[in-house]
Amino acid sequence: MKRIPIAGPWISQKEIDTVTDAVATSWYEGAGKYEQLFERSFAEYLGVSHAVSLPHCTSAIHLSLLALGVGYGDEVIVPDITWIASAAPISYVGAQPVFADIDPVTWCLHPAALESCISDKTKAIIAVDLYGGMPDMDSILAVAQRHGLPVIEDAAEAIGSEYKDRKAGSFGKTGVFSFHGSKTLTAGEGGLLATNDTELYNRVLFLRDHGRIPGDVSFNNAEVAYKYKMSSLQAALGYAQLNRVEELVNKKRQIFNWYRQGLEDATYLQLNAEPEGTKNSYWMSSVIVDEQREWPKLKLMKALAQKGIDSRPFFNPLSSIPAYSDFKQAAIARERNLNAYRVSRQAINLPSALILSQEDVAYVCEVLLDLLG
Ligand SMILES: Cc1ncc(COP(=O)(O)O)c(C=O)c1O
Repeated sequence: MKRIPIAGPWISQKEIDTVTDAVATSWYEGAGKYEQLFERSFAEYLGVSHAVSLPHCTSAIHLSLLALGVGYGDEVIVPDITWIASAAPISYVGAQPVFADIDPVTWCLHPAALESCISDKTKAIIAVDLYGGMPDMDSILAVAQRHGLPVIEDAAEAIGSEYKDRKAGSFGKTGVFSFHGSKTLTAGEGGLLATNDTELYNRVLFLRDHGRIPGDVSFNNAEVAYKYKMSSLQAALGYAQLNRVEELVNKKRQIFNWYRQGLEDATYLQLNAEPEGTKNSYWMSSVIVDEQREWPKLKLMKALAQKGIDSRPFFNPLSSIPAYSDFKQAAIARERNLNAYRVSRQAINLPSALILSQEDVAYVCEVLLDLLG
């Protein structure tokens, strides 16, 4: 039976040619060429001053926290609904995650919930553009400014999204991206940190190269730091994909529109939101099923799988997963974050791979509606 995949890239001959060139030429005097091209083009695309290519988005969040001086005993606020990679680096630096509730419409950090989580230990805020959707960024930045806190914008899932005509990933002190194979723009694996702060940028360059000042050839490392670099081959793939970014984002939006049309009569389903003034790049087309409807989630996902359709559970609240079971802040969040728990319980991600056709999406809609009956 044909499988309809949940996620995956769209690779054209352009990417194959560019990576082939990189493997042949990015050594000796050609070393670093594709990293520079990728970083410069990405910064230009976002409209920011600096971009640093990294091995993954997890390292971009780790370096953001380090460069902002977050450390032992500090607290960092993160939305309760996101992939664990948004929060894990908080533990890497010895700080504590505080899990804030989400907005039931955008599925992103709720500004009022964020503000209620701020304590005198709070050192930073991580705002996540979940599944390509944008949070109420003006309100989040206003809260951050009122309390003098830096924002790390986790745009891992949101390349091509916009808020008031500005690109996702350009709002915080740093913006971070993932180029994992499941993402809209892939480098196989990879990540990137964007910033307008030159001092922070220089600190990141230093930290990601074992504590060496860029260009240093003396091997007198000034600090024990990290080795977080993207390879030329990954950068070449990322660069070639970046040249097609509009096409990739448009295809994601087209897939979502096919779902919207196919599911429009099912008023008991809530799909990804695109509030006025925002552009959603719909990394994952998703549905929340009305609470009144009986639908054992795992049974539904199994039934979809039997029809050749891959799906994923919406992220679990971080405060609910075993990794955080002993965290005091998780116990507090479990009682408090009603939106996160309700949305997560009722939602799944639908197939959103870039290679899907209109027929594939029509088939998914037909099977889903039939199963939900
Ligand atoms: C919201 C979010 N943050 C961070 C990451 C981490 O990205 P990477 O796998 O490149 O480290 C991901 C990856 O899936 C993600 O979805």
